[in-house]
Parts: sequence; C-alpha cells; structure tokens
Amino acid sequence: MEKTFIMLKPDAVQRGLVGQIISRFESKGCKLVGMKLIKVNRDVAEQHYAEHKGKSFFEPTVNYIMSSPVVAMVWEGKNVVVIARELMGATNPVSANPGTIRGAYGMDISRNIIHGSDSEVSAKREIALYFQPGEILEYPKAG
Ligand code: CMP
Repeated sequence: MEKTFIMLKPDAVQRGLVGQIISRFESKGCKLVGMKLIKVNRDVAEQHYAEHKGKSFFEPTVNYIMSSPVVAMVWEGKNVVVIARELMGATNPVSANPGTIRGAYGMDISRNIIHGSDSEVSAKREIALYFQPGEILEYPKAG
C-alpha cells in the first residue's frame, strides 16, 4: 500500500497544532502507520533537504527543522502522496487555499507548518531517513 512521509515542523509543535493537523489526516481516511516526536540532527536535516542544496533557503530551512522537536509520521492509503499534498496546500501559506493546513494555520513560507513527500520515490527516501523498518506498523483499519 502507498505510504507518504509527513513532518509537523517546529512551528506546528510549538503552537500546539499537532492534534488538529493529525485529525485532518484521520478524518480524510489516511491510516497512521508510524509516528515519533524527535529532534532532527544536522546530518538528517541536510539529507532531507539535499535537493535544495545551493539554494538561498537551504541553510535556514535546515537550521529551522533542527531548532526544536518535530513530529515525524508515516501515513498509508491509496494515492496517499497526492491526498496528503492536497490536505497540506501550497508550499507558500500566502497562496495556500484557506481550507488547507498551510492555508489555515500558516503565514510564512519559512514556517510553513508541515512537510510532505512530493512523490512516491521521495516518500520511500524520506521514510527510510527517519524510520527503521520495524517502526512502520501493520494493523487492520476500520472503514
Ligand atoms: P517543504 O515542503 O518542507 O520543502 C522545502 C522547504 O523549504 C519548504 O517547505 C519551505 O519551508 C522552505 N522554504 C523556505 N523558503 C523557500 C522558498 N523561497 N521556496 C521554497 N521553499 C522554501
């Protein structure tokens, strides 16, 4: 079954938005199969944003996700990569639809609440960066 990696960034944790955001994924029908509250180290942060290396926002973004705990999650479901991106909204909260997570809760592209994989290939890479295989759990889901 398709999986995606979702990170609730420091701003989401500090502002107490974790429960509300997880609720949106649960209500949609996505299945939570992995979750932990972690402090990201530099090595992982730089690997996470490796595709942006050399861009002006690379270093600030790496420093930002290291600055305070984040919630790392794996969600599962048919087409879950695209579904999660629709739930999150545009990268820049300024242009994100107000019905989306970034549109509802964010103001600033550098503090945009949530990260989600942009493809199944990225999802596999990002899940492997944050989770051991045994930390992804299998269980029946109602509905
Ligand atoms: P995310 O989906 O985690 O992927 C890359 C992150 O870089 C993005 O969300 C933003 O938080 C951050 N970022 C900061 N400035 C920019 C920018 N100008 N363009 C794209 N991403 C940016």
